[in-house]
Amino acid sequence: MLSRRPPIISFFLIIILMLVILMLGILLLVAVARIECPSKMTLSAMQKAAKPEVCLTESCVRTAATLLSAMDQTVSPCDDFFQYACGAWNKKHVIPEDKSSINVFDVLSDQLHIILKGVLEEPSNAEDSSATRKAKLFYKSCMDIKQIRLVGDAPIREVLRSLGGWPVTEGVAWTAPKGQLEILLGRLRGEFNMGWLIEQWVGPDDKNSSVNILQLDQIPLALPAATTI
Ligand SMILES: *[C@@H]1O[C@H](CO)[C@@H](O)[C@H](O)[C@H]1NC(C)=O
Repeated sequence: MLSRRPPIISFFLIIILMLVILMLGILLLVAVARIECPSKMTLSAMQKAAKPEVCLTESCVRTAATLLSAMDQTVSPCDDFFQYACGAWNKKHVIPEDKSSINVFDVLSDQLHIILKGVLEEPSNAEDSSATRKAKLFYKSCMDIKQIRLVGDAPIREVLRSLGGWPVTEGVAWTAPKGQLEILLGRLRGEFNMGWLIEQWVGPDDKNSSVNILQLDQIPLALPAATTI
């Protein structure tokens, strides 16, 4: 039918048809956009979701500053990644004479000790738990040099005697105790939290972690880390 009309009319019909399709398309788009973004609030929420939020709390800022202060940003990470990530840290931290290494955990541990010293030196108050009170008392007694000098080695001699004595302190009068070695080792672990001859403790079984078993190991050398290296 179309082909029988003059070509110019066919041409106009096609144009009008295209325009109608275009209009319908635009109307559909607007309708969809309205459904998806009913208000400005939703739009801003969508924008927010697209951009990751930056954490600006005090601890985040402190952590970011710590990481930045350890970096040497003058070096390209593609040339020397270690220098880029840790270069400034190495410059600021020297291995102390009494240690074989130093790392972030050592630094944190030292900081924690200083904080703990402050806590322990505060006088006991009503808000302290029983554990805190005991820790403060223990610290105070360890720092009471005058009393320690006065008492001397009497307490340790008494402990040694209760464990069967020691020829070095008892002299020729010492005689070997009759008790069993296992009982002595048990008392040292139970009463003094010490491992002697062999290290022994109760811990989860490697083969079945739902049960605790008696574990035995060699005793560690009682030397500082720097000496054993
Ligand atoms: C682990 O020990 C528990 C408690 O004795 C026992 O019930 C369980 O069957 C053990 N599991 C295996 C894998 O042996």
